[in-house]
Amino acid sequence: MMEMATRDQKKQASTLGVLGLGYVGLPLALETAKSGYRVLGFDVSPQVVDLVNRGESHVQDVPSELLSALVGEGLLSATTDFSRLAECDAISVCVPTPLNKIKDPDLSFVVTATNSIAATLRPGQLIILESTTFPGTTREVMLPILEETGLQVGEDFFVCFSPERVDPGNPIWQTRNTPKVIGGVTEKCLAQGVALYERVFDTLVPVGSAEAAELTKVYENTFRMINIALANELAQACDRLGVDVWEVIDAAATKPFGFMKFTPGPGLGGHCIPLDPHYLSWKLRTLSYKTRMIELASEINAEMPGFVLGKVQDALNEVGLAINGSKVLVLGIAYKRDVDDFRESPAIDIIRLLQEKRAEVEYHDPFCPSIEDDDHTPLANLPMHSVDLSQEVLERADCVVIVTDHTTVDYDRLADVARLVVDTRGVMRRHAGGRATVIGLSGAEQESVATWRPRLQIAVR
Ligand SMILES: NC(=O)c1ccc[n+]([C@@H]2O[C@H](COP(=O)([O-])OP(=O)(O)OC[C@H]3O[C@@H](n4cnc5c(N)ncnc54)[C@H](O)[C@@H]3O)[C@@H](O)[C@H]2O)c1
Repeated sequence: MMEMATRDQKKQASTLGVLGLGYVGLPLALETAKSGYRVLGFDVSPQVVDLVNRGESHVQDVPSELLSALVGEGLLSATTDFSRLAECDAISVCVPTPLNKIKDPDLSFVVTATNSIAATLRPGQLIILESTTFPGTTREVMLPILEETGLQVGEDFFVCFSPERVDPGNPIWQTRNTPKVIGGVTEKCLAQGVALYERVFDTLVPVGSAEAAELTKVYENTFRMINIALANELAQACDRLGVDVWEVIDAAATKPFGFMKFTPGPGLGGHCIPLDPHYLSWKLRTLSYKTRMIELASEINAEMPGFVLGKVQDALNEVGLAINGSKVLVLGIAYKRDVDDFRESPAIDIIRLLQEKRAEVEYHDPFCPSIEDDDHTPLANLPMHSVDLSQEVLERADCVVIVTDHTTVDYDRLADVARLVVDTRGVMRRHAGGRATVIGLSGAEQESVATWRPRLQIAVR
């Protein structure tokens, strides 16, 4: 396959269109522009397009200096004018693939994007779908729309699927050096896709079909989701057994083979891991097969915010406080450490559950300054704004819940000042000698933890 790609390299595209300039599309646009392609970004959002054309990055991993340099050199620009798709030799599609209200795949963005491409499709164009989706989307959903033009795939135009594996906030594995899986609708399609991406990525992993590439991505994320569920189940088991889950996991991780470390936490978050496996289970349901491991893992992960609520309730109870009327500070709302994305974050569920129990909730997150009304969260009384982690804020909180272990927080100071800490990430074990209620610790340990500060007496009203 690679030999075939090398022959076709001569026909390399010179203008690449990137449809959707979000967390995935913008880094891809940048990397392709750095590789020497002229890149034209398309987005339905005029704000996003304006920002890109001003060289201002709205994506954490994309430095504005680099973006503005590429914009300044004329290698990268953005537009809302989709008729300009005709200028592109190749088009990478990076639009959202969310779930709808009943947790079924919502391919409306992919369909709209494909309709835009079909409107100006011309011979020689290569289309690569990057959005995470179920096996069959490229061939069964995109292709029929493109073939309505009368052009023939594999002859007149080419279609591939190449999943984006970006890990936001990861300083080592970035767009260029993360191996890129790619599969074509036909062999010629794959050859064209490989020829294009060979210049952009250090390592390509060609597979035999678009479906294999689609399934690779959802399998990877399902693997993570199921292993996180296993760690969360272990935390709940340890809670009952009186064994320290963090010690068990650290000890297991010393095994040099056959084990991969996953840690428990407040639940699943982000735009990918909680959603993508449902794409696979939906597809399998249409084939009369039930993906039982996905269903069970989802159930366990979805229980975690309730488990955390129980821990807050227990901690407050230890010092004679009811959750109703207590001041709870949620520390970190992003779905993972040091990122600014709180889509699907368990923090939102935890805030909601606390509010339902009538706690007075504040949050601190240096990466997420506010939660707005249009952020599609189930929260009432929006907007909410991040509070500074001042002495006063820490002192007025009856309980601090660490939901996201951002590295910007001084956990030693937190241990010194906060009255009660419920730690869902095990971070206080490292920073403050374990002086907090840590999920997955035994009942006895939790009790000693709940009386760790004399000032706790003050908290009893
Ligand atoms: N965020 C991640 O870490 C990540 C990682 C791997 C894969 N993915 C997958 O990549 C895809 C994109 O995710 P994202 O996080 O970049 O989403 P995003 O919401 O950050 O960005 C999507 C962009 O597409 C634009 N858009 C919507 N409809 C459009 C259309 N018809 N034409 C042009 N632009 C349109 C939106 O305005 C937005 O700017 C999803 O399928 C996601 O599952 C995301």
